[in-house]
Amino acid sequence: MYPDRVVSGMRPTGAMHLGHYHGALKNWVRLQSEHPCLFFVADWHALTTHYDDPSIIESSTWDMVIDWLAAGIDPSQATIFIQSKVPEHAELHLLLSMSTPLGWLERVPTYKDQQEKLADRDLATYGFLGYPLLQAADVLIYRASMVPVGEDQVPHVEMMREIARRFNHLYGREKDFEEKAREAVKKLGSKRAKLYNELRTEYQEQGKDDALEQAKALLDDAQNLSMSDRERLFGYLEGSRKLILVEPQALLTEASRLPGLDGQKMSKSYGNTIALRDDTETVTKKVRTMPTDPARVRRTDAGDPEKCPVWQFHMVYSDTPTKEWVVKGCKSAGIGCLECKQPVVDAILKEQEPMRERAQQYLDDPSLVRAIVADGCDQARKHAQETMRDVREEMGLSYN
Ligand code: TRP
Ligand code: SF4
Repeated sequence: MYPDRVVSGMRPTGAMHLGHYHGALKNWVRLQSEHPCLFFVADWHALTTHYDDPSIIESSTWDMVIDWLAAGIDPSQATIFIQSKVPEHAELHLLLSMSTPLGWLERVPTYKDQQEKLADRDLATYGFLGYPLLQAADVLIYRASMVPVGEDQVPHVEMMREIARRFNHLYGREKDFEEKAREAVKKLGSKRAKLYNELRTEYQEQGKDDALEQAKALLDDAQNLSMSDRERLFGYLEGSRKLILVEPQALLTEASRLPGLDGQKMSKSYGNTIALRDDTETVTKKVRTMPTDPARVRRTDAGDPEKCPVWQFHMVYSDTPTKEWVVKGCKSAGIGCLECKQPVVDAILKEQEPMRERAQQYLDDPSLVRAIVADGCDQARKHAQETMRDVREEMGLSYN
């Protein structure tokens, strides 16, 4: 019913590192040329855990957006915005909260996990429990069909689907729906109407997903249907309800294969990161001082790449001949560790070069970033307002 929109967000954590790049951003950059994409800074989500220290949210947001742009998110392709600048997210969150069972929220695995992990914070709050519901509003408000997320977020997307389904069930009732839907079918013209009915039967009686897809494509192509007839026909395909909100799919992002400098997960709290915009000297120094296989105490000691975090970097950055050179040289003590690290340094610097260049123009003129985000907020808001008009109407809140 809606173009295959992609929505994803990140909490404002400040400057991004190469783990973020290889784990998420690179994927966003690819997606933006394939689908209409909306990428936003989830500043309200940051407050669910850091409500007592909001001072860094704003600067972290700008740093993060600059890094998105540096990584290649292109504002002429993707919409970049800030969650709190589209207050409709909060309105939908509120309205969804009316019918969301507490049990659904309590059962989301991240709820207990995060409370345990962030034990130094009091997360027995209303806002924190509602974290995944706010996230559902973030996505459902754009009627997005895909949400690129890491594995930990898949249960959140599952819950969004349930929320959308429940919403459509509760509010997608319409008096005389069947009759109106049948009238709308006629408006497709006899040939299309016949095909629509056949596909609908195929889907409903035999569960053929491709029949559903075909029928949706047919509706996408159909001209001269009113918005409400179109919606009816989409809803009629799957049952006898209007589809007000769309059930999104998780688009699983592979975990970053790039660990931190010490071989653990790359994370600011472990102090083992390479920032997207670290300068040449910093990168060189960080890699040169990386720990290696502890068995290689002296240059003449043989080592084992499997026991060395530098090898993990080669796995991400090096071609096959280089990797063969590493394995052979390490196991035979034919190369020194600094020698082994050089191709990694070179590859990272090469990867970062265009990023540093892109970032520079935004650092030189921060008003460019402000303008990109302001524009993105406007665009996002238009879409969000469209959905909210329908939502309010279905919930009896339009007061016309
Ligand atoms: N919860 C996500 C995370 O921690 C961030 C997020 C907020 C998000 N709203 C979203 C991701 C909507 C995808 C879609 O990474
Ligand atoms: Fe690690 Fe390379 Fe040194 Fe082997 S030679 S221990 S792979 S840095």
